[in-house]
Amino acid sequence: MAEDKTIENRKADHIRICLDEDVSFSKKTGFERYELEHCALPDVNIGDIDLSTGFLGKPFNYPFFICAITGGTNEAEKINKTLAKAAESLGIGFGLGSQRAMLKDPSKKKSYEVRDVAPSAFIAGNIGAVQLPEYNIEQIDSLVSDLRLDALCIHLNAAQEAVQKEGDTNWQGVFHKIKEVASSVKFPVIVKEVGNGISGRVAKELKECKVSAIDIAGAGGTSWTKVEQYRNNSSDTFNEWGIPTAQALTEVRQEVKLPLIASGGIRSGIDAAKALVMGANLVGFALPVLKPATEGFEEVVAYFERIAKELRTAMFLVNASNLEELRRNAVLKYI
Ligand SMILES: Cc1cc2nc3c(=O)[nH]c(=O)nc-3n(C[C@H](O)[C@H](O)[C@H](O)COP(=O)(O)O)c2cc1C
Repeated sequence: MAEDKTIENRKADHIRICLDEDVSFSKKTGFERYELEHCALPDVNIGDIDLSTGFLGKPFNYPFFICAITGGTNEAEKINKTLAKAAESLGIGFGLGSQRAMLKDPSKKKSYEVRDVAPSAFIAGNIGAVQLPEYNIEQIDSLVSDLRLDALCIHLNAAQEAVQKEGDTNWQGVFHKIKEVASSVKFPVIVKEVGNGISGRVAKELKECKVSAIDIAGAGGTSWTKVEQYRNNSSDTFNEWGIPTAQALTEVRQEVKLPLIASGGIRSGIDAAKALVMGANLVGFALPVLKPATEGFEEVVAYFERIAKELRTAMFLVNASNLEELRRNAVLKYI
């Protein structure tokens, strides 16, 4: 129980720090080193631009994913409901935060129950890779089946665990556990980072584990080592650790054909367009939706409408009327 309280306090700290402090990397995502070549003569009606796509068998109206944020507290319950409702209304995907709290204490399950407000949206569960060995396959299966979700995200957060006072730093066997889970469960498994990036080499290993998709979650957005530094008032040595998002995405796309989510510092429709041209199937957002999620459903919808408008504008300016044309027509120049 003492440990449950610790998880609850930690989750509350994370939300508070992410809302109140500057938790972003100082270094950039790497997208700023690329420019989409301007097309002075587009043959497109901006009003007809189609942003729809599909991901792991579900239709999406926009290529957007709300990445894992929270769970396990009363505040988390409100945030998850608001985000799920917005995902349903927009026709985009949503990932719940780590469900470890509900495995430790089943009364916390209600903070993750969102199917009532999002009957058809693509919704993924979430658990830490290093925590997998604590649970059997039935328990892991229940994270998705009990809540009628579409997939499970397994997060890799080695850098965060390494700097956290109470962090789990024995990662031996984690690879095999991911492999066991991915080959035992019936739903898709998405492996994600939390903002330190997945390399081409790790993506190749994940492909061997038979995971269904990868969220490369690179560096340039939220720095979890920085969040932990605020929590513990500890050293800032590892605050900038990680593979910039554009680099991680390029490497991973070269290595695997799996569906990819690009997250980690995606902050505009132009970032989104560049990531989609570099091979992402979806782009993911966490920190920018946290504040709107505490304000309400309309604020979350407004955020994504702004990003969609910017993405449409970028597509117009590279002569693309849908995502297929964006990938085919856009010229991405390294500057
Ligand atoms: C407040 C907050 C809580 C998060 N909690 C989780 C989590 O429980 N599980 C997880 O896999 N990722 C978690 N993340 C990481 C995000 O899903 C995402 O990978 C990362 O923040 C990079 O995206 P961003 O730069 O848009 O924030 C969290 C992010 C934020 C901002």
